[in-house]
Amino acid sequence: MNFQLTEEQQMLKKMVRDFAENEVEPTAAERDEEERFDRNIFDQMSELGLTGIPWPEEYGGIGSDFVSYAIAVEELSRVCASTGVTLSAHISLASWPIYTFGNKEQKENFLTRLATGEALGAYALSEPGAGSDVSSMRTQAKKDGDDYILNGNKVWITNGGVADIYLVFAKTDQDAGHKGISAFIVEKGTDGFTFGKKEKKLGIRSSPTTELIFENCRIPKENLLGEEGEGFKIAMQTLDGGRNGIAAQAVGIAQGALDKSIGYAKEREQFGKPIAKHQGLSFKLADMATDVEAARLLTYKAAFLESEGKPYAKASAMAKLFAGDAAMEVTTEAVQVYGGYGYTKDYPVERYMRDAKITQIYEGTNEIQRLVIGRMVTS
Ligand code: CAA
Ligand code: FAD
Repeated sequence: MNFQLTEEQQMLKKMVRDFAENEVEPTAAERDEEERFDRNIFDQMSELGLTGIPWPEEYGGIGSDFVSYAIAVEELSRVCASTGVTLSAHISLASWPIYTFGNKEQKENFLTRLATGEALGAYALSEPGAGSDVSSMRTQAKKDGDDYILNGNKVWITNGGVADIYLVFAKTDQDAGHKGISAFIVEKGTDGFTFGKKEKKLGIRSSPTTELIFENCRIPKENLLGEEGEGFKIAMQTLDGGRNGIAAQAVGIAQGALDKSIGYAKEREQFGKPIAKHQGLSFKLADMATDVEAARLLTYKAAFLESEGKPYAKASAMAKLFAGDAAMEVTTEAVQVYGGYGYTKDYPVERYMRDAKITQIYEGTNEIQRLVIGRMVTS
């Protein structure tokens, strides 16, 4: 067993940390306040090769591994969780299924544009009446000659409106339950595909979350991913890895809040000494640091298993469950370390606390992670 990052992973970590601190962090609070997505940051990530970390060079990627990908999401989220999820949704949710289930033409056309960062990706599974219960989705894809006609609404879509390529799940057979779901690649600008409500959110406010509307939207059959009826399994397998992207986001949020708390506790004096020197406060920091480390180990383990081609669904669900809860706990304590100042927008920890909450909700709530893990450990 080896707990050391490889030389390549260490270099990537340093590169992403420098980029995050110099280019992402300075505008993070402002973008949060204004609920503003900045495409320029995504373009810079593309120049650094981050938009295609795990994909082979032949498809425009940099041929690295899933641990490196987790490190990148973590380092971005350490300063701005919105930027972390932009990359996570782009790689885990939009690109992964095309890499895994796409045919040669789909990879050449769509994956290459995603990997190079020419295009931004999104994943559209959830609907107003179908969040945790994916099979109950209603969006319809009706075969019409060589095309499919899409009708329905998707909600909560990360990168919605700003993304160029959308993986959309719809029912090709309304009576077949989860076996009636199929997956389609839909490009922005396709007739009949428009955007609805943009959510006003508690956290990750510079990551747009938007409704997608399909009204007689005609999709060529070449854009069907996998076979008809395979959509549910494509969606689930995509989430198996995607959940570890969210775990990495949670680790980054928690680490960022911890770093800020330690810095503050060493500076702020009460009762004639830095508050870090009060045992009650240093115990808090010790618990926070331990939570972050444990969450990171679970996350890197799941990423390592995926890179090795070993089963990783259970590890990934465990990582997301633990890291999401840890991020919420650590960021709440970070606000406590800052006292009254932590409760204001003059300091960043309130943003970290607001951002942390989503990691317990999306890509399957933590109740759903328990359901997934529970089924696996008892089967
Ligand atoms: N891999 C492969 N196959 C899987 C699978 C997996 N991970 N999970 C289930 N299946 C298969 C089952 O084996 C079963 O196959 P058969 O029909 O051959 O028997 C079939 O799929 C149905 O499985 P279940 O009976 O387990 O399905 P279910 O209806 O009980 O649902 C669930 C299971 C785990 C609750 C699932 O619905 C789920 O994951 N819900 C949460 C949804 C979610 O995570 N949404 C995230 C949206 S994306 C997002 O939020 C984006 C973002 O963060 C940025
Ligand atoms: P519900 O499913 O209605 O759940 C409500 C509550 O009931 C939760 O606490 C849940 O845990 C609990 N519950 C439900 N079923 C069970 C059960 N069987 N056992 C125990 N408890 C249960 N979706 C996408 O497709 N693509 C995206 O890019 C995307 N991005 C998102 C970004 C944001 C900011 C948000 C808020 C959501 C996003 N989502 C996205 C949707 C997200 O995945 C769903 O919100 C999530 O899966 C929960 O679904 P729901 O909101 O409908 O809650």
